[in-house]
Amino acid sequence: MIDGHFIVIEGIDGSGTSTQCSILADRLTDKGLPVHTTREPSDGPIGVLIRQVLTGRVVVSGRQGARPFNWATMAALFAADRLDHLEAEVIPNLTDGVTVICDRYDHSSVAYQTVSGGGGEDISSWVLALNRHAKRPDLTLVFDVDPAAAAGRRETRSGSPELYEVDEMQAELAGFYGKIDELFPNDTIRHIDANCGIEAVAEAVWAEVMALRGEST
Ligand code: TYD
Repeated sequence: MIDGHFIVIEGIDGSGTSTQCSILADRLTDKGLPVHTTREPSDGPIGVLIRQVLTGRVVVSGRQGARPFNWATMAALFAADRLDHLEAEVIPNLTDGVTVICDRYDHSSVAYQTVSGGGGEDISSWVLALNRHAKRPDLTLVFDVDPAAAAGRRETRSGSPELYEVDEMQAELAGFYGKIDELFPNDTIRHIDANCGIEAVAEAVWAEVMALRGEST
């Protein structure tokens, strides 16, 4: 059995990764291909804990009052969640010949944990080292989007903003994603202009996935 392709979609909050993961999955399914969509933080035990931190349900309490976990604890949790997710869900599917589409992966860790930790290169190197055993995707699609447009999309969502959904930080992240290839020189990364409408982005995603499969669109 030939392993399935491992495809990752990345970008800032509100860049449209979840919508496009599901459109891509439907298109591949329509072609008769077995597909599994998933996300990070995952739905496994460590991912559930992370989501509780992101929404403020779990905090560090102490003399200074309740606060979120610090950036380094988050980096360690995201890396642990990733390794668990790979073992429990991603690799078994790939081995069964299923294409796995993952909404975010370790590019998110390098971007978000570096920016939330102050932005230093030493932080990026440490986060990369923490993720050294994470299987490499066959294709990573990075959605480049105007941070103001992404902020507008986030505002239309229900619920309170999560830990990293702060406009200044998202603008910094957009810049970081623009040059993320330098930190993953051995990955196949393609940037997609995600400022256009859903259908145009879906077409650009499809073209890249067909190129990966060696098929014409
Ligand atoms: P997100 O995709 O926004 O999930 P949802 O739409 O369900 O809230 O992901 C949650 C947040 O986690 C997002 O702000 C990015 C952040 N994140 C990291 O900081 N590091 C990581 O390694 C990953 C995978 C996500």
